[in-house]
Amino acid sequence: MLSSQQQTQYQQDGYLVLPNFKTAAEIAALRARAGEIVDAFDPSGNISIFTTQEQDRRVDDYFMGSAEKIRCFFEEEAFDTTGQLKQSKALSINKIGHAMHDLDPVFNHFSRGPGMAAVAASLGLNQPQIWQSMYIFKQPGIGGEVRWHQDATFFDTTPITVTTFWFALEDATLGNGCLWVEPGGHRGPLRERFVKAGEGAASIEKLDATPWPDDTTAVPLEVSAGTLVVFHGLLPHYSAPNRSPVSRHAYTLHATDAASVYSSENWLQRTADLPVRGFG
Ligand code: FE2
Repeated sequence: MLSSQQQTQYQQDGYLVLPNFKTAAEIAALRARAGEIVDAFDPSGNISIFTTQEQDRRVDDYFMGSAEKIRCFFEEEAFDTTGQLKQSKALSINKIGHAMHDLDPVFNHFSRGPGMAAVAASLGLNQPQIWQSMYIFKQPGIGGEVRWHQDATFFDTTPITVTTFWFALEDATLGNGCLWVEPGGHRGPLRERFVKAGEGAASIEKLDATPWPDDTTAVPLEVSAGTLVVFHGLLPHYSAPNRSPVSRHAYTLHATDAASVYSSENWLQRTADLPVRGFG
């Protein structure tokens, strides 16, 4: 349960940093399981790159079909000019997504429980629905930039309720590409929407010309492993490329409130095979 002071701070800033939310043992279990998933991943025929570069948001059937699956996506810079991996598979994966929290017991255990339910309730999610999980590797040397965006772009609801739960699985520093946020920026407009564009495709739709923050208004969130950062779906955030020799693993969950209307145009939809659930 968050204190009233923490709740007030969240309302003011649009985010909250909760150090020591997860133990070293909990983190180790999740990291080990992610390693097993990557080990078991056979990339032949499934080369899918994840990039957030504005002119180049590549989506494909493999991405669009991952809403109810556990799939691995490569770093954009993982390949040489001949299409071969420049380093081991384990050091080439950008992320795993997007339904580990519902399909994998280890991820389910990490993602749910009384502690998570209490934080969600404190942030106003009365009937939380966890739509997505992502294990983000931010690999040493090649970990890609995630350009400025708002997560409500991907989880549009009326009214906007999407809330991000971002767990540091390793120390996140300026060197390895920690999060940057704009304190109070959640009071600004939603700038973009990522909407389905026919079968197996989606694209960015510009809604508002308000510029993204820069380093005069943004702050870096250098946090220790085990920290949970929660933030509002309208909070602009960004992370720089990782050019350092150390990775920056993180795990994220995105939840909305069932009382808000989830857009049928969002790329991520669930079928009756895997109904969306909360933190309990
Ligand atoms: Fe994000």
